[in-house]
Amino acid sequence: MTIWTVGYLIGSIAKASINRRLAGALVRLAPQELAMREIPIDELPLYSYDYDADYPPVARAFKEALAGVDAVLFVTPEYNRSIPGALKNAIDWASRPYGQNSFTRKPSAMIGASPGKIGTAVGQQHLRSILGFCNSPQMNSMEAYIQYEKGLVNDDGEVTNAQTADFLRRYMIEFRDFIARVYTALPRNP
Ligand SMILES: Cc1cc2nc3c(=O)[nH]c(=O)nc-3n(C[C@H](O)[C@H](O)[C@H](O)COP(=O)(O)O)c2cc1C
Repeated sequence: MTIWTVGYLIGSIAKASINRRLAGALVRLAPQELAMREIPIDELPLYSYDYDADYPPVARAFKEALAGVDAVLFVTPEYNRSIPGALKNAIDWASRPYGQNSFTRKPSAMIGASPGKIGTAVGQQHLRSILGFCNSPQMNSMEAYIQYEKGLVNDDGEVTNAQTADFLRRYMIEFRDFIARVYTALPRNP
């Protein structure tokens, strides 16, 4: 059995984040071939290319964490019909210094929760555009736009709606298969 390591980035730095709750649920529902680990973004300073010659330790650790995973899962809210600034900042750090883009040829997927009906759909389109430029092969389908109602994920990380739990389980299986397909086509560093 091949184990794939997946680093997940939570786009919200809010303490009560519903996307953090969703991420916890995904970790529980992921198939056994996926080893899930969070890659935190909340301590990164604002990126500037002034840092390119000498990244601070927190940014080095961030890039090393990305280098250490086979794939990346974005679990993010939508802010003002786009992605949160904290997540964009993290992606900017990851994409630089020039020529050392952490996302190149690294498979990714995205999912998000919001209280609204369109469940981060517009924000995800922006994220797709950004990751396209960063040369990350993205899982196109399944898409996952989660309308979050209070209590959907309980304090133990369990999804309380059986249909949603089933959907999320299938989503993670699809991501596992997508990762395998990308690496089967050609290894990242042939
Ligand atoms: C600055 C800001 C902008 C927001 N913009 C949107 C939006 O464009 N679409 C949406 O569905 N919800 C929007 N919301 C509501 C968020 O979906 C809601 O706060 C959600 O809890 C954020 O996810 P989080 O709890 O994981 O941080 C916005 C919230 C904030 C604070």
